[in-house]
Amino acid sequence: MARCVVTRKLPFPALERLRAAHDIEVWRGALPPSSAELRELCADAEGLLCMLTDSIDAELIDASPNLRAIANFAVGTNNIDVAHATSKGIAVGNTPGVLTETTADLTFALILAVSRKIVESAKSVRDGEWWTWEPAGWLGSDVHGATLGIIGPGLIGEAVARRGEGFGMTILRTGHSPGPGRVALEQLLAESDVVSLHCPLTEETRGLIDVEALMAMKQSAILINTARGEVIDSEALRQALESGWIAGAGLDVTDPEPLPGFHPLLGAPNLTVVPHIGSASHATRGRMAAMAVDNLLAGLDGRPMPSAID
Ligand code: DGY
Repeated sequence: MARCVVTRKLPFPALERLRAAHDIEVWRGALPPSSAELRELCADAEGLLCMLTDSIDAELIDASPNLRAIANFAVGTNNIDVAHATSKGIAVGNTPGVLTETTADLTFALILAVSRKIVESAKSVRDGEWWTWEPAGWLGSDVHGATLGIIGPGLIGEAVARRGEGFGMTILRTGHSPGPGRVALEQLLAESDVVSLHCPLTEETRGLIDVEALMAMKQSAILINTARGEVIDSEALRQALESGWIAGAGLDVTDPEPLPGFHPLLGAPNLTVVPHIGSASHATRGRMAAMAVDNLLAGLDGRPMPSAID
């Protein structure tokens, strides 16, 4: 039996498979462990099932000499120093594929919500401000027939593109891999009515959507982010919304995350923010738990993880 740490309560059946095979300690705090608490938890751990809110950096890895396997409960792995873990012979796994369609659904929900002003108009009804039907009240933009620009056409980006095709949208894509519909970033920004981010967070994509990129978009366009908050420069986005450089934005992820209620970005107009719920359906979170447990069991057994990152 190996000693395993699970950094949040996971109310999914998969955890019982891990409990049956190993000695597990679950962090029961309402908030994620601080870096000091995480260091203490992991000091003698052999297996680690962690969340995107845990920073598994070189310092933590060096302070956990028995660690043999890390399973991230996420597809994104920007919270883990994978190169350092690999150099120490620690197996690292993530949860790709199982959350693709659920995250694409949420992306499309944001596209529709921002384009048709769903959140603000629904709030006006609750606030008792619906006096009459107005010929020019709550006018938004059509999603059908618009041009959808996908930055980072991986699994999730392509699932969003398929939904866009169903709405009769023209799809533009920009990314590293060759394929149909690929254009340069500049062209995508200039021609898209909806720009949707699906790239991983890397040194190359951090701050990719800055003042220059926002000014290159159409004034009638909207920006959607279900990737990672740091891909957008938050202050530049605030300025873009305040100044009307773009028409609106829908964010599932933010920088900082969580976004405090008093953050200046939240004062900007035409902005819808949801709390990183892209993969949050009962079925998908259950599948993510199963995949993370499978990865950890394999890594601790010395077998290749079903979904390994090297
Ligand atoms: C991920 O998996 O990386 C998402 O951001 C959360 O499910």
